[in-house]
Amino acid sequence: MLEVWCSPIMKSWTEEQRNALLQPSEMRSGEDMVSPERCYEYWTVRALARRLLTAKFGIPPGLVSFTHDRRGRPLIFVNHYRFSVHVSFSHSEDIVMVAACADESVGVDVERITRYPEKVANRMFSTAELRRLNRFDGVERDIEFFRVWTLKEAISKAWGLGMAMHFPQITVSRDALGWSTGCSWWTVSNGSLIASVAKVSAIQHQPKPTWYSLATVTAHMLHSETWRRMTS
Ligand SMILES: CC(C)(COP(=O)(O)OP(=O)(O)OC[C@H]1O[C@@H](n2cnc3c(N)ncnc32)[C@H](O)[C@@H]1OP(=O)(O)O)[C@@H](O)C(=O)NCCC(=O)NCCS
Repeated sequence: MLEVWCSPIMKSWTEEQRNALLQPSEMRSGEDMVSPERCYEYWTVRALARRLLTAKFGIPPGLVSFTHDRRGRPLIFVNHYRFSVHVSFSHSEDIVMVAACADESVGVDVERITRYPEKVANRMFSTAELRRLNRFDGVERDIEFFRVWTLKEAISKAWGLGMAMHFPQITVSRDALGWSTGCSWWTVSNGSLIASVAKVSAIQHQPKPTWYSLATVTAHMLHSETWRRMTS
């Protein structure tokens, strides 16, 4: 089972919403963050993850808490015991994304497609990836950059390495099965957002993930739908 849920960042929270969707320690950690924006993405991603775990694994939301390992990979505790489901978080400007996988380590990354940052490509892409990127022009090049970038980020999270991964040494292949570097992976885009999810696996043919909505809905619909789902 591999589920990916996304939500716009909730930028106003009533006390009732905070009490329903967050743990007291998360409220305090969010309030200590460097900016309100960082606080709201921190809160939204954890509220969304808690809802996913309730909907798919039947865990009462009040029993779920999140921590992370020494490199930053998120870990789930249920009633103070480590829970075996793997999760991954991503935030980008106004959207958060959560992936959950019952059996293997997972990583997710979402980005808004903008003009591609040439310096990041030069620093983080392998020679083969740069050569391929430079075959594209304009918007096509921007999309190719973010496709490869979100995949590399998703793989780094699935491996639990984050920035400790040596990005230029990894080449993400373009094969149709979406399998390379020991991971199965998938990418979706709605034209302005692009997201990739990667799952560590020795098996090439994996069931597809269930994406919750990114490809088809507008931000407004996403918000009301997600809110309905989060509060139901
Ligand atoms: C930290 C990193 C894993 C992802 O950072 P990012 O893409 O900026 O941010 P995202 O919002 O997608 O991901 C952040 C989440 O990654 C997760 N994460 C951090 N370290 C992790 C690790 N070692 N393993 C798995 N997940 C990790 C955390 O859950 C974090 O969310 P949280 O702070 O709410 O707990 C890392 O790869 C990084 O800093 N990348 C560089 C970013 C960069 O150069 N950006 C320019 C590109 S245009």
